[in-house]
Amino acid sequence: MNAVISVSNPLLRITDLRVDFGSHTALRDVSFDLFAGETLGLVGESGSGKSTLARAILRLVRSSHGSVVWRGRDLLSCDSRELRALRRDLQIVFQDPLASLNPRMTVGEAIAEPLCIFEGALNARERTGRVAAMLERVGLTAHMISRFPHEFSGGQCQRIGIARAMILSPKLLVCDEPVSSLDVSIQGQIVNLLLDLQRDVGTAMIFISHNLAVVRHLSHRILVMYAGRLVEIAPRDALFAAPIHPYSRALLAAVPSPTPVSRTVQASAAPVEASSSQPVTTGCAFRGRCAYAVAVCAITIPPLEEMTPGHWAACHRGRELPASGLGTFRGC
Ligand SMILES: Nc1ncnc2c1ncn2[C@@H]1O[C@H](COP(=O)(O)OP(=O)(O)OP(=O)(O)O)[C@@H](O)[C@H]1O
Ligand code: SF4
Ligand SMILES: [Mg+2]
Repeated sequence: MNAVISVSNPLLRITDLRVDFGSHTALRDVSFDLFAGETLGLVGESGSGKSTLARAILRLVRSSHGSVVWRGRDLLSCDSRELRALRRDLQIVFQDPLASLNPRMTVGEAIAEPLCIFEGALNARERTGRVAAMLERVGLTAHMISRFPHEFSGGQCQRIGIARAMILSPKLLVCDEPVSSLDVSIQGQIVNLLLDLQRDVGTAMIFISHNLAVVRHLSHRILVMYAGRLVEIAPRDALFAAPIHPYSRALLAAVPSPTPVSRTVQASAAPVEASSSQPVTTGCAFRGRCAYAVAVCAITIPPLEEMTPGHWAACHRGRELPASGLGTFRGC
């Protein structure tokens, strides 16, 4: 949370984004802005569409509707050549660090690959120097440059993945559950590495995680997804102090302690409850689990509305539900 955020122009503006997998709509009506240097936490139960959103932004899956405007250019309408050029600033770190590395490439080759593509003027010595420096920057050592991914632990592989993603100092780093496959003792180190790199480079982040303690630690704002839609967007402290949407309230109530995560505390929050949240076309998708559902909830999909400045929620009863902290709420 050390980065300087520029709120003058959004780096990224998502409008009405929709993704269909055949007849299944995984993402619908998704709109939000991301500003330079900002970290957006993205939370929601399994199957709510978090990875689909991340992949749609980077055009790793096809969107059927909407726009993804990156620094004024709609990525969804770019031709492949333009997209390739823009990708230098858009990087992703995946959940499974070993699977995301090519087993036949040395770590040096893997980290150097983006340099070969985007900084072709570098000679071999300069490239090796950059890779060695990056290895040191992510807490590894330069002499590891000729080793292969299988020679490293999960945490080390994730450091290699981060080195590869950050070697070009991208403007946006999407992290899709980057620590969830790692030992708890390693998770905090990787989170802090990401924070340090973000502070140094000024990269904006979209950080997907089931771990609310980590999301709270990292994020400036938090997006809550349910059944393929955004149901709440709020500054981090506002969300944790007074979540509006009944799903967010239930989600945050599952966190065992409101104690902030310090740089030395490891990630340990309760996972988000698993369920089969499916997008619906009529009414509020959460109504079957909502203690506050009323007749209109079965008829009309609640729009995302600004309830208080900067705090948006998609709930017909968002303005009338008790604005209490989590401790006094007895909802879903
Ligand atoms: N390639 C695909 N083909 C068909 N359906 C898909 C595909 N990818 C995702 N889905 C479906 O889209 C929905 C959203 O999936 P997604 O992976 O985005 O959820 P998620 O929020 O990232 O879940 P998790 O927390 O488990 O990673 C799910 O119903 C999933 O089954
Ligand atoms: S719109 Fe209705 S069903 Fe949906 S969360 Fe709000 S009160 Fe509950
Ligand atoms: Mg996912």
